[in-house]
Amino acid sequence: MLEIEIDGKALQVNEGCTVMEAANLAGVYIPHFCYHRKLSIAANCRMCLVQVEKAPKALPACATPVTDGMKVWTHSESALKAQKAVMEFLLINHPLDCPICDQGGECQLQDLSVGYGCGQSRYGEEKRVVFNKDLGPLVSTDMTRCINCTRCVRFMQEIAGDMELGQAYRGEHAEIMPFLGRTLDSELSGNVIDLCPVGALTSRPFRFSSRTWELSRRRSVSPHDGVGANLIVQTRFDRVKRVLPLEYEALNVFWLSDKVRFSFVALN
Ligand code: SF4
Ligand code: FES
Repeated sequence: MLEIEIDGKALQVNEGCTVMEAANLAGVYIPHFCYHRKLSIAANCRMCLVQVEKAPKALPACATPVTDGMKVWTHSESALKAQKAVMEFLLINHPLDCPICDQGGECQLQDLSVGYGCGQSRYGEEKRVVFNKDLGPLVSTDMTRCINCTRCVRFMQEIAGDMELGQAYRGEHAEIMPFLGRTLDSELSGNVIDLCPVGALTSRPFRFSSRTWELSRRRSVSPHDGVGANLIVQTRFDRVKRVLPLEYEALNVFWLSDKVRFSFVALN
């Protein structure tokens, strides 16, 4: 066991644990976009920068393994300065179209920009525009909103097992796209909608039909698969508007098959 300190809280963690995992154990929230505990580490958004004793610069919590005696500050002046700088950088090319975005109200970027963004942009140049991609009848795209966290790409490769998405080009020109002009055909494709931390990938059947805060929520169990995936049925005016996975580690984890997620369309 290693002994470390996070924001003055002493705790013991296993060797190989990252600062992000240790912070989660300690109940300390570190802002993040690309990190997801069921996906590999990409460390590309840099939102999780934290101050580490004796390190000359802020380090990404999701990709920094803990060492014995390490002291970490997640909300010190220098950590906050780094996190705010990353947020400003991420928002430079973001269209800031929350009022017309289907993700509004459940968007990680929107939520974190309240805490880490500044009220006014200093960026007066033209923003980049990324053309939308045809991902098929279930997943709708607004790729200009994408922050290139690659959660969707990693999910398809590591969990769905179908290498149907990739990141092309580099730097400011980087784009997420399906391979060779194909659509997203995996039976698990709908999970990228939940994973996308912004409004770049949204549900086509649900799109623009309700705001998330207008929906009632009921816990349920899937009638369509052999394992009984746990889910949340969201309704409005007695109509099912959306079906989402309910986290259940021993069964469906965070995931739902497209059959379970989208079959409510037939109900209506
Ligand atoms: S589409 Fe969404 S999940 Fe995929 S890289 Fe862009 S922001 Fe991340
Ligand atoms: S969450 Fe750590 S770099 Fe993205």
